[in-house]
Amino acid sequence: MIELAFSILASDFAHLADEVAAAERGGGSIVHIDVMDGHFVPNITFGPPMVKAVRSITKLPLDCHLMIENPDAFIPDFAEAGADMVSVHQEVCRHLHRTLQLIEQHGMKPAVVINPATPVDTLIEILPMVHHVLVMSVNPGFGGQKFLPLALDKIGLLAEIREELGLNFRIEVDGGVAHDTVAQVVQAGADMLVAGSAVFSPGKTEHNARELLAAARAAAEIQD
Ligand code: DX5
Ligand code: ZN
Repeated sequence: MIELAFSILASDFAHLADEVAAAERGGGSIVHIDVMDGHFVPNITFGPPMVKAVRSITKLPLDCHLMIENPDAFIPDFAEAGADMVSVHQEVCRHLHRTLQLIEQHGMKPAVVINPATPVDTLIEILPMVHHVLVMSVNPGFGGQKFLPLALDKIGLLAEIREELGLNFRIEVDGGVAHDTVAQVVQAGADMLVAGSAVFSPGKTEHNARELLAAARAAAEIQD
């Protein structure tokens, strides 16, 4: 099933509840929350208080993308705030297996993220533990960047490995997913599509979400 995980980073924070509701009406079914610490990535966003606020305005699953160093220290806080899924970057986890276990122990779905420069091979051993793998199609830190096509081969490789190993993790893609790139990512094998700037736009959010999902689902059908 193809799902749209809309990234609230691109929304109007002053009207967050309306923004989330509009993306949800357009068919968005996961809220993607980009947590940045100013260390792992050159930007600062928000943390557990934002997750708690979003938890109070929607029933949709909350997908927290942690672009932070030392994620272990904050996992209990994200659980407490109401996160459903937590993804951590392979590049910051010295003990990735332990961190994924910790997420699971806190009742959330564990996921792992790889930067554009990080190979899929680094994940083989932990693939049976994750709910999804997030393939970055931009260097993390900012919304509105250009899609990097190198992500397509990585998505395809993950889909092949999943088949070979008989696993069932999902494949998420994040960065530059928009009308002109969505068909390729779906055809490569992604089924959780993160999109921020292609969704949020004053007065057009619901429409944008609907159109992006329609394009994604049409691309999936062509492939079948
Ligand atoms: C980038 C974030 C993304 C970002 C996507 O570091 O992880 O989730 O919000 O934004 P767009 O869809 O505008 O590329
Ligand atoms: Zn993200």
